[in-house]
Amino acid sequence: MSVQDVPDPQLQDAGDAIVRITSTAICGSDLHLYEVLGPYMTAGDVLGHESMGIVEQIGSGVSRVQVGDRVVVPFNISCGHCWMCSRGLQSQCETTQVTEQGSGASLFGFSKLYGQVPGGQAEQLRVPHADYGLITVGKDLPDERYLFLSDILPTAWQGVKYADVPEGGSLAVMGLGPVGQFAARIGVHLGNRVFAIDPVPERRAMAARHGVEVFDQTPLSVDAIREATDGRGPDAVVDAVGMEAHGSPVARAAHQVVGHLPKAVGQKAMETVGIDRLAALHASLDLVRRGGTVSLSGVYGGVASPMPLLSMFDKQIQLRMGQCNVRAWTDDLLPLVEDPSDPLGVTDLVTHRLPLEEAASAYETFQKKHDGCIKVVLDPSRH
Ligand SMILES: NC(=O)c1ccc[n+]([C@@H]2O[C@H](COP(=O)([O-])OP(=O)(O)OC[C@H]3O[C@@H](n4cnc5c(N)ncnc54)[C@H](O)[C@@H]3O)[C@@H](O)[C@H]2O)c1
Ligand SMILES: [Zn+2]
Ligand SMILES: [Zn+2]
Repeated sequence: MSVQDVPDPQLQDAGDAIVRITSTAICGSDLHLYEVLGPYMTAGDVLGHESMGIVEQIGSGVSRVQVGDRVVVPFNISCGHCWMCSRGLQSQCETTQVTEQGSGASLFGFSKLYGQVPGGQAEQLRVPHADYGLITVGKDLPDERYLFLSDILPTAWQGVKYADVPEGGSLAVMGLGPVGQFAARIGVHLGNRVFAIDPVPERRAMAARHGVEVFDQTPLSVDAIREATDGRGPDAVVDAVGMEAHGSPVARAAHQVVGHLPKAVGQKAMETVGIDRLAALHASLDLVRRGGTVSLSGVYGGVASPMPLLSMFDKQIQLRMGQCNVRAWTDDLLPLVEDPSDPLGVTDLVTHRLPLEEAASAYETFQKKHDGCIKVVLDPSRH
């Protein structure tokens, strides 16, 4: 990871806009590219998919968005009018699908797996399908109020919606990274009893400030949550960890091997070997009550990862997952992030706001969870 000068992005299609970036965050998904998906990266790829800024140029086909507008850029690039988009499945957009990789909609800054579109951890960003994609926001509130509409807030919202907790029911959230923080707080906001598990004390403390009952990552925590739910387990579990889970030693070794293989071999290994660290997923399937739902916000990647199908079938578990359909949730979330009482606590998440120049060390700090790091925002205007 390094910060380099590259040519400024240019308008390429009539539907493009160029956005000058004012804030751009590092996501847990970037950590996959930093480690296990490394074999898909090409030297010179620009990362970043959680960005906002000011529109500087628009193509001839852009009419809803104007130069000077303040905008948030959703991480998936979607057209807004295809079969999938018109059904609220913007992450599967048929106009931008990356068919050569068998992937869904193109994503900013996500290697050739998702279209190799240059990302937003940069001073400027070219945004295709700008008229539909860009979320226009007001000019008075600080960036942190709006920035997370690009990814982690709708991701957490979709995770909780898919979890389908009955009225006044119980929800457990695995992992209290930025996605888990928001999933847990959304659960509380919607009136559920919310439990959450994470090994990092400051992440638990942050969630506890928002009414979440927090537990360390030990087998005892699973028992404690089950006891607190009449011995049955919570109605639903959101897995907000994904394939970098701690506590899966075999996969950890495989990750390291994949990271060190030549690119072509590494990609093959990734596609044919179960290299996910499944600790959080398995714990979620174990914890959820019979007849409950497990909703995966966390990203998983291997094809040969073993799953406990006997117990999944016997427990009658429903499983939902997927990349967030960002634009499907904007209208629900915009009023909540602008609400002066900040009901989802969007102003209590960022621990590090750093110059873009410090991106390389910021990745390391975020991955290693050093210095109390929970969420990093990079600011290209700071030096
Ligand atoms: N579905 C989507 O569209 C989408 C969007 C954004 C992020 N994500 C994914 O969500 C996941 C979380 O992202 P994030 O930004 O919060 O990242 P993160 O890496 O900061 O969060 C992961 C958290 O899980 C905790 N954890 C690790 N192993 C655990 C275990 N076994 N049990 C419980 N907790 C454990 C870690 O301590 C950390 O706090 C990632 O997999 C990311 O790729 C998905
Ligand atoms: Zn992300
Ligand atoms: Zn579409």
